[in-house]
Amino acid sequence: MPRPHHNPKTNRMFEPAFLGPLAVKNRLIMAPMGTLLASEVGGVTPKQIDYYAERAKGGVGTIIVEITSVDYPLGGTGLTFHDNGYIGGHSELVEAVHAYGAKIICQLAHVGRQAHPSDLKGLQPVAPSPIPCRILKVLPRELSTREVEEIVQKFIAAAKRARAAGYDGVELHGAHGYLIAQFMSLCSNQRTDRYGGSLLNRMNFPLEIIRGVKKAVGDRFPLLFRFSGDEFVENGRPLEESKQVARMLEEEGVHVLDVSAGAYDSMPKLMEPMSYPEGWKIYLAEEIKKAVKVPVIGVGVIRTPAFAEKILREGRIDFVALGRALIADPHWPNKAREGRPEDIIRCISCNIGCIGGRVFRGLPLRCSVNPATGREREFGILPPAGERRKVLVVGGGPAGMEAACLAKRRGHRVILAEKEAQLGGQLLLAAVPPGKEKINWYSEYLIGRMKKLKVLTRMKQEVTAGYVQKLKPEVVILATGAVPWIPDIPGIQNPNVVKAWDILDGKKKVEDSMVVVAGGGTVGCETALYLARQNRKVIVVEMLGRIALDMEPINRMDLQEKIRQAGVETRVKKKMKEIAKEGVLLEDEGGKEEWILADWVILALGVKPNDSLFRKLEGKVPEIYSIGDCGQTGKIIDASYDGFRVGRLI
Ligand SMILES: Cc1cc2nc3c(=O)[nH]c(=O)nc-3n(C[C@H](O)[C@H](O)[C@H](O)COP(=O)(O)OP(=O)(O)OC[C@H]3O[C@@H](n4cnc5c(N)ncnc54)[C@H](O)[C@@H]3O)c2cc1C
Ligand SMILES: Cc1cc2nc3c(=O)[nH]c(=O)nc-3n(C[C@H](O)[C@H](O)[C@H](O)COP(=O)(O)O)c2cc1C
Ligand code: SF4
Repeated sequence: MPRPHHNPKTNRMFEPAFLGPLAVKNRLIMAPMGTLLASEVGGVTPKQIDYYAERAKGGVGTIIVEITSVDYPLGGTGLTFHDNGYIGGHSELVEAVHAYGAKIICQLAHVGRQAHPSDLKGLQPVAPSPIPCRILKVLPRELSTREVEEIVQKFIAAAKRARAAGYDGVELHGAHGYLIAQFMSLCSNQRTDRYGGSLLNRMNFPLEIIRGVKKAVGDRFPLLFRFSGDEFVENGRPLEESKQVARMLEEEGVHVLDVSAGAYDSMPKLMEPMSYPEGWKIYLAEEIKKAVKVPVIGVGVIRTPAFAEKILREGRIDFVALGRALIADPHWPNKAREGRPEDIIRCISCNIGCIGGRVFRGLPLRCSVNPATGREREFGILPPAGERRKVLVVGGGPAGMEAACLAKRRGHRVILAEKEAQLGGQLLLAAVPPGKEKINWYSEYLIGRMKKLKVLTRMKQEVTAGYVQKLKPEVVILATGAVPWIPDIPGIQNPNVVKAWDILDGKKKVEDSMVVVAGGGTVGCETALYLARQNRKVIVVEMLGRIALDMEPINRMDLQEKIRQAGVETRVKKKMKEIAKEGVLLEDEGGKEEWILADWVILALGVKPNDSLFRKLEGKVPEIYSIGDCGQTGKIIDASYDGFRVGRLI
């Protein structure tokens, strides 16, 4: 248990509290998050235990374990609890979390129509009514009344198993458009039996589960209910109706209400992309709290201890749920309690390592800013360097800084040289477009860590082969990043042609109004939005069939909407053939050509590794590595992992 503390900055957050009947050591809760770390058949794995144990060790008071299916495979194929055979595995998870003084709650769920097609093993998903969700577009089969009653029993049986495994409580997953939510919401429930029609009838499914669970596990076994304060879906449940729902749940004896938002059909509200501000949906939990007496949990882009403390202190909510904040930094609570907020690795809401880029694609959880996530055992202990060596890291982007910090921590003598006046590399450009400021959090964190570790840096030092020969390092790590790819087409050297990177770092300004951005990937689209917000008329030209295809899907949805609102025009399936003073010549797939007028042409056609120094040095120094974009162009997640990997290796 943590020592008593008197830090006025975190007093409320770290005061012991009651989560319904459950005494917990603080007001911080780990939000339930699917990890895909379970076994092929949905059992708890050692990796999963390590992942949760690390979060418990990091000081969070309560962990709500990820979505756990009560009915396999139709109810979900990640973690499951549909059979007694799973109790042993879950009990080991419970033990590991309890060892650190944290409580652990099992989130029970059935995915209904939001079953991922690849998880269905050839079966048709089930739902209250045969209405597909707009994202997955798979037509579900309507459940018969008897089948609904059977699923109620499955929830009850799973709750009994959870108690048998030693969980401190269960949470019913009635949020995010899964089966319970599908019954509660008019947009997915058009039944005519006792489970459909009026709100009262639509609530029968959750209320029967609640009654059954309470009867089976006892009235004092903590029972939480998660639901969306607003579904943000046409014909879905708005906040006013959610208040009624909250009162009904309270009357039925639910001990704690966990208020989230959205459904798959309103995905950006559920797992927010980068542009959403901290705590934007806390107002939903706050409004629900006004309608009930039971404790209320709030969630959504809570990233800083100061914000968490503020909303607790203002009485807006009773408990703070941290989701991605704990994927990015399992030790967030301890760092907050110890008054070290600057040491927290803040989640940047990129969704690349967790939800959109991994879990939704059937891949286990990772994190862009924390390479150890999902590999806690493998990377738990940092081995000291066998022999203390002189290491030169070239490039101060994420790959270089990760590598330098780890190598330094392991005892090597490290010098990091960066040709610019500032550390950060492309992160500095990535943070410029509207809504991308959170990227700065990662560079600020890395720079802070470099300072704390006293890594020797040589700024404004462009490293050449001669410099390396003079310095005589035993190990060279090249983290020189990438350079924009410039195709060889007529007119590319014209004075009206500018690289997107030069626009974003302010080296070039485009004063006139008509701009063509060549390349509709992430950088092209974000630069287009940046310019459109400065009242430039922008057209994005893309060769592929859609824009931003290299982007994580939830962030892409957000960007596409913003681009549309900003009046950016997009031309897809068009290749740029020539650039002239007056504009660009495009060619479509059928070979048809068209000139479009433009004062400026901005190039965002991709990048290539900046590896010329690597090629010069290869074979001429005792040990050399190329990492991050210099090895293979990618995203932050690739650069940070590469730096981390090589920093541990040498
Ligand atoms: C506009 C933009 C938006 C982006 N958005 C995202 C995003 O949303 N999500 C995401 O995951 N990724 C994004 N990226 C990509 C991401 O920033 C890169 O993948 C990542 O920064 C690569 O890291 P790195 O350390 O390998 O290289 P870099 O970040 O490029 O760092 C390389 C460093 O090496 C220095 N250097 C080069 N040559 C020398 C030399 N000879 N001597 C000394 N120093 C040298 C450079 O000055 C630079 O500081 C974006 C990139 C851009 C440009
Ligand atoms: C990888 C990932 C998996 C998630 N899985 C679940 C889940 O299993 N059950 C659930 O109720 N919410 C799930 N969520 C939603 C989170 O619990 C949380 O509400 C959301 O991420 C917003 O909070 P945050 O900004 O603190 O992450 C998931 C989110 C992420 C990022
Ligand atoms: S992958 Fe991105 S969104 Fe997910 S936890 Fe890490 S930083 Fe946050």
